[in-house]
Amino acid sequence: MRLSRMVICFALMSLAVPGVLGRLGFCRAAAAAHAPVVPDTGTASDEGALFTAFAPVLRHPRCMNCHSQGDYPRQGDDGHPHTMNVRRGPVGFGVTAEKCNTCHQDHNLVGAHLPPGAPGWRLPPPAMPMIWEGLTDTQLCQSIKDPKQNRNRNLDQLVEHLTEDKLVMWGWNPGEGRTPVPIPHDEFTAKVKRWQAAGAPCPAK
Ligand code: HEC
Ligand code: HEC
Repeated sequence: MRLSRMVICFALMSLAVPGVLGRLGFCRAAAAAHAPVVPDTGTASDEGALFTAFAPVLRHPRCMNCHSQGDYPRQGDDGHPHTMNVRRGPVGFGVTAEKCNTCHQDHNLVGAHLPPGAPGWRLPPPAMPMIWEGLTDTQLCQSIKDPKQNRNRNLDQLVEHLTEDKLVMWGWNPGEGRTPVPIPHDEFTAKVKRWQAAGAPCPAK
């Protein structure tokens, strides 16, 4: 690959026609491709990659259906509003007569389209709705670390929640007909702990 780029580069150089400057740029790039690989020294943006390595789990519909905009949970991989006009309610457990645990148990009910479940099934409370939808990776990273938005969790507690909480764990075992989150749980935990060990850096932009 690189060699052929060098060859094309020299071939272009030998054609003394207009546009030579652009070709020189091409050639510089080709030469740079030959430069020795500089070891990763961990600049700010590189460290941000420790967060983006596991962010696809947080962005997955299994998580976003409770962490999206609006005053209601969502359903399915397309995140459509929850049927039957289910609402967040005053503390996140739904409104009178439509409390989440009227239908959602502490475990998945067996069968397609039956309510999934985990202990404490609910939405975050309206005063601290933990909405991630619409956030950039940087904002999402800052939001989950912010005690004012994550219910006063320090980093250790946040990591514990991310790797052990029952509602979070549900994402790996979401019940019949639902796609689980994309990264195996042990791999996800390792990535989160690597991020934690580096001081939980957020992507620069
Ligand atoms: C009247 C019964 C009922 C109530 C009340 C109810 N749900 Fe549901 N919920 C369901 C059913 C049934 C499903 C499964 C739908 C399906 O798979 O087609 C579901 C699915 C969901 C899902 C989708 C999971 C996914 O990722 O696809 C979420 C999230 C959810 N409910 C949250 C809540 C929350 C939070 C509350 C309370 C604020 C609540 N539900 C109240 C019946 C209910
Ligand atoms: C059924 C709804 C529901 C689902 C599904 C859900 N969460 Fe949550 N999540 C909550 C609730 C409720 C809280 C608030 C709990 C508390 O403060 O104790 C919360 C809080 C959090 C927090 C801490 C607050 C914050 O924003 O930093 C994190 C992190 C989190 N969830 C991650 C996840 C991840 C990752 C998934 C998917 C694998 C997920 N959640 C799926 C309801 C849900």
